[in-house]
Amino acid sequence: MDILLNNKTNRMKNLRLFFAVIVLLFLQMETFAQADLRWYEKAIFYQIYPPSFKDFDGDGIGDIKGIIEKLDYVQSIGINAIWFTPMFSSPFKDGGYDVSDYYSIDKRYGTNDDMVQLIAKAHEKGLKLCLDLVIGHTSNENPWFVESSKGTNLRYSDYYIWTPFVPNEVKGKPTVRGNDIMGEDKYVPFKSARGNYYIKNFYDIQPALNFGFANPNPDHPWEQSIDAPGPQAVQREMKNVISFWMDKGIDGFRVDLASSIVKNDPGKKATIKVWQGLNLWFREKYPQGILIAEWFNPKQSSEAGFNIDFMRGGSLVSNRQGGEFQPTICYFARDGKGQLKDWYDQFIAQYDATKGKSYISLPTGNHDNPRLNAGDRNTTDQLKVTMTFFLTMPGIPVIYYGDEIGMKFLTGLYNKEGSQGDSSKNRAGSRTPMQWDSTKNAGFSTSGFWNLYLPVDKDPDRPNVAKEEQDSNSLLNYTRKLIQLRKSSKALSADGDWQLLSDVNKPYPMVYNRSAGGESFCIILNPTDKNLTVDIPTLKNNKASLVLGKAKGGYYKIGSPYDRINIGAVSALVFKME
Ligand code: BGC
Repeated sequence: MDILLNNKTNRMKNLRLFFAVIVLLFLQMETFAQADLRWYEKAIFYQIYPPSFKDFDGDGIGDIKGIIEKLDYVQSIGINAIWFTPMFSSPFKDGGYDVSDYYSIDKRYGTNDDMVQLIAKAHEKGLKLCLDLVIGHTSNENPWFVESSKGTNLRYSDYYIWTPFVPNEVKGKPTVRGNDIMGEDKYVPFKSARGNYYIKNFYDIQPALNFGFANPNPDHPWEQSIDAPGPQAVQREMKNVISFWMDKGIDGFRVDLASSIVKNDPGKKATIKVWQGLNLWFREKYPQGILIAEWFNPKQSSEAGFNIDFMRGGSLVSNRQGGEFQPTICYFARDGKGQLKDWYDQFIAQYDATKGKSYISLPTGNHDNPRLNAGDRNTTDQLKVTMTFFLTMPGIPVIYYGDEIGMKFLTGLYNKEGSQGDSSKNRAGSRTPMQWDSTKNAGFSTSGFWNLYLPVDKDPDRPNVAKEEQDSNSLLNYTRKLIQLRKSSKALSADGDWQLLSDVNKPYPMVYNRSAGGESFCIILNPTDKNLTVDIPTLKNNKASLVLGKAKGGYYKIGSPYDRINIGAVSALVFKME
């Protein structure tokens, strides 16, 4: 009897144990799934400008097969996600931001099958991939636009905005950047069956897609509301584009000029409303995907439902002047004449408003702005200081291809595919071929010089990957160390708290703290050519251990009520506080 009872109790116990294990497994799977859905929180992005990355077929223009060849390199930096500027079919009057067919890869880069192969190879290596969604406009060679110009009752008629005249209240007024009320410049003369003008988004060859107007003016019949059939059809089409590529395995999109879609919407209320709908749809259908806004206003884009938005380095890295981008008076310069206040005020307002909701991305550069290596900010030490900033800030880092080896922003280049147009300065200088090694064309392409997408930097001492791999002090290896450090610590991750410790009105050196869960780091940046000492309110630690950077006689002395820091000229120090 006892034996029977014992057996029964044992069976019950085993059963309970079995169920407990199942529940635990289930919970764990759930956590893994959640973790994967939130992969972007740990992302360290690399931006590739495809025509200049690696040319596989030798025609002088980078391509998908070239990118596949270099995935191991990208991964070796510590990168785990890539975004590409547009690769869809295009006449390339604005570097591919003029799409003629969203459903096909342009033949100069390869085929849709090549893209699928790239996705598979990247995923094998744990790399996520995002494409660029040019949502606000197409090329004027897009068949949608051509058909739209032909009549009012065709499938694509209302994809664009046609007007019979330029309204009087707009005449003579320019569109002011950031104002978002269209000026006369947005009306492009074009006689067609539809009218005499169409509304453009950026260049004349980029007719705006019709997402509607915030407050349609009843005297302007072309101004449709965001809920009208035309704008709704455009939204459906863009959802199709998104689904088409997401279903092929892409992990998300960087959304070009996301804030531009609804017209005459200065407060962005209507634009935010449209995006809330689109983001909700996206999140339900693709919970593992992300949309990164090019909005430059994280507060607004966060409300619109985006996970990530960019902020420009602005006065930290470059002030625009004249026809060329110039790193004139900016913070990261050795003359020490820059200031922090403008940048700080903008950043802290955005940071406080979005913390815990979405992420700010401070990219090292991009295809529209000068590189870190520009003008007289050109030594490895200077670039290390700047790179330390970008890789120790909260949010999502993006390294622009070539910045990790210190490629130079080239001046005096010609206009290449809209790099220098009516409303843009020279952008070609940041779009030159990646420098891989010391062979012909820096290993970018086997083609002749005249076929190259843009000329390779002619400097005999130009940096390249092969050289920097061999040099333990190179910017490339320093960038790797920074990424390793970032990945090793919650405090340095996207979510760790950030606090400026130095006085914003005494900008050099910049001292800030990153902390999370009892872990704390102090980062000190001195881009100037002078040795500097600064006192900061004590962090009340017992020990400050240097974990990255060369002390060059610099130190961190813990005191009360101030900690004293000394830092050598042109250097960056990262201390772990214990
Ligand atoms: C892109 C530019 C492009 C423009 C128009 C920008 O935000 O980054 O390269 O010329 O949008 O599409």
